[in-house]
Amino acid sequence: MMPKLELHLHLEGAAPPAFIRAQAQRKSVDLSGIFDAQGNYSFRGFPEFLRIYEAACTVLTSPQDFHDLTLAVLEHSAAEGVIYSEVFLSPDFCGGGDLSAWRDYLAAIEAAAQSAEAQMGIVLRGCVTCIRHFGPDQSRKIARCAQETAGSFITGFGLAGDETVLHSKDFAYAFDAAREAGLGLTAHAGEWGGPASVRETLRDLRVSRIGHGVRAVEDPRLIDELAEAGAVLEVCPGSNIALGLYPRLKDHPIDRLRRAGVKVTVSTDDPPFFHTTLRREYDALAETFGWDTPDFDQITRNALDAAFCDAETRARIAARLEAP
Ligand code: ADE
Ligand code: ZN
Repeated sequence: MMPKLELHLHLEGAAPPAFIRAQAQRKSVDLSGIFDAQGNYSFRGFPEFLRIYEAACTVLTSPQDFHDLTLAVLEHSAAEGVIYSEVFLSPDFCGGGDLSAWRDYLAAIEAAAQSAEAQMGIVLRGCVTCIRHFGPDQSRKIARCAQETAGSFITGFGLAGDETVLHSKDFAYAFDAAREAGLGLTAHAGEWGGPASVRETLRDLRVSRIGHGVRAVEDPRLIDELAEAGAVLEVCPGSNIALGLYPRLKDHPIDRLRRAGVKVTVSTDDPPFFHTTLRREYDALAETFGWDTPDFDQITRNALDAAFCDAETRARIAARLEAP
C-alpha cells in the first residue's frame, strides 16, 4: 500500500459515529437526531453539517475522551497507509478555550499520539484551530492557547468553520500571534467563498496553506498567483462532493489546478461524515483523472514539503517514503 501523508483532518470530524454514539449512551445524552437509520451521520448541506458536527462534540467532555478519540482516529489513518498526519484541534471543544483546561486535553491527545506512533509508526502533529463563526474575540483566546502550547507537537495554527460569515482580517490578530509563536499557518477559504475569499485570506492572514481553496479555479489570474507563490492547497474532494460543492468528481477542479502548476495535496477533512477514507480518495482520483504512481508521488512530496513539522521529522518521513 502506498504510504500517505494527510494535512487536513479535523479530529472531532474524524470521530466514527459508533464512537460518538457510545459516548452519548454513557453520558445519557440523546443524540439520535444526528444519525440516520444505518447509524451514519445525517445532514443535508453545510449549515446542517456544522450543527451536527457541533452536536457530536457535546459528548466529548473530558481529556480521556479525546485520548480515546485520538487513538481511534489514528488506527483508522494507519490502516489507510498514512504515515504522517496533521489534525486540526479546537480548544473550543476542549474546555471552551480555557488555557488550563486546554493543557489537560492536549496532554491526553499527545499521550495518545505517542502510543500510536510507538504501536503503529504513524506520526501526528497538531494544528490549533479557531472556528470562524465563534467570532474574533474567541479566536484571540484560541491563539493564546496556541502560543502557550506551541512546540514539538503543536506546530500549526488554523481557521475553520463558516466561511460565509465575517472577514479574514477579523482574525488577523490571532494569526499574527500564532506567527510570532513560530507556528505554520493555514486557513479554510475558497470552499464556500469564491476567489475573493482566497485572496483576502492570503493577504490578511499570510498563510502558506489554504484549506480547500478549490474555488480559486474560478479566477485564472488567481490560479497563476497561487502557482507563482507556491501556495499549497489542502484539497478534500470527497468532502466537497458530499457537501454539494461539485456534483461529481469529474467536475471537481483538483486536476485542473494541478495541471496549472498549483501545489495540491489530498485529504479527507471529516471522513466518516463524508463516507470517505484516504484510500477511497486516491482510488477515485486514479479512476476519474487517470492519476498514476508518479502523480501520487508528487502529491505526497507536496504534502511533505508543506507539512508543519521540524526538519528532523521531515527527514524521517522522507526516509520512510524512500524505503517504505
Ligand atoms: N469544519 C470541519 N469541516 C469543515 C469544512 N469542510 N469547512 C469548514 N469548517 C469545517
Ligand atoms: Zn476542513
